[in-house]
Amino acid sequence: MITILGIESSCDDTSAAVIRDGVILSNVIAGQAVHERYGGVVPELASRAHQQNIIPVVHDALKQAGITKEEISAVAFTRGPGLLGSLLVGTSFAKGFSSALNIPMIEINHLQAHVLAHFIKEDEHDTNQPGFPFLCLLVSGGNSQIILVKSYDDMEIVGQTIDDAAGEAFDKCAKVMGLGYPGGPVVDRLAKQGDPDRFTFSKPRIAGYDYSFSGLKTSFLYFLRDKLKNDAGFIEKNKEDLCASLQKTIIDILMDKLYSAAVDLQIKEVAVAGGVSANSGLRNAFEEYSRRYGWKIHVPKFAYTTDNAAMVAISGYYKYLDSRFCPPDVVPYARVSI
Ligand code: KG4
Repeated sequence: MITILGIESSCDDTSAAVIRDGVILSNVIAGQAVHERYGGVVPELASRAHQQNIIPVVHDALKQAGITKEEISAVAFTRGPGLLGSLLVGTSFAKGFSSALNIPMIEINHLQAHVLAHFIKEDEHDTNQPGFPFLCLLVSGGNSQIILVKSYDDMEIVGQTIDDAAGEAFDKCAKVMGLGYPGGPVVDRLAKQGDPDRFTFSKPRIAGYDYSFSGLKTSFLYFLRDKLKNDAGFIEKNKEDLCASLQKTIIDILMDKLYSAAVDLQIKEVAVAGGVSANSGLRNAFEEYSRRYGWKIHVPKFAYTTDNAAMVAISGYYKYLDSRFCPPDVVPYARVSI
């Protein structure tokens, strides 16, 4: 029996999870409301909140899993990418925990962990895991990538954003409409009541499978600026249609490139991961492509869309099987590719 404690602290969620032989036993996430009034994550405040949260969160994860710390085989933690001060909290915790219990430590790449979240089993009969190779669209506040997943630790970036991430496009456009932070979920909610074909916004023309979202943000901004000149209440009167049209544009951009990559690489098994994978329009688009093109799709449970330690623990489980442990002098890294 292999029991992994996963620790995630790369940004503004403190999370601990327990996975036993690939099956989830607990996944506790403490968010940080402190950033809301600043309209974005404040790194210094994030590290401080991680310090406050880490011990209670781990305690709850062990309690919910119904295990004692002596039953843990190894501790897996996010080494990067992320905010350095935040990563230091999880890394230091993992070092203390592993040395106190004399168990190995396993370093995890946060981006790979988002992809590997699809291998978490809800119970021992769960066989809904992807088969290799598959494509994964990783879309979050910091990333928009199409990843060719060849094995648990062999992943290749096929395409990625050359400027803003899809989540940033949602958040920045939402901010222009005065919808608060993070705006992605608010746009999603309002879009459900709007007409996605009412407004059209510019789509980038970029060769290959790379994305660009900064042009959309600028075109959205200029469009609103022009409309507001004649009607100060334009946003308020049209916010549902604005959100629906914006969301449709972002999803079309994401799906067009993903589809091209799937056709060219002859892959019909496609997954989506990251914060933006919670978007209902994107989830519907995956269902539609599955029906239309016979894709076998993998859409994560909502608990695994945002940053969480369950994905770190499952990644740790597969590294444990290969005895890929890390030394105690390991340091986090703020920037690293998949
Ligand atoms: O992966 P994640 O939790 O962390 C970061 O990379 O920061 O992703 C957060 C991003 C934010 O941009 C947020 O607005 C977006 O995911 N997001 C959504 C939805 N839920 C979260 N975007 C669109 N629709 C949603 N339902």
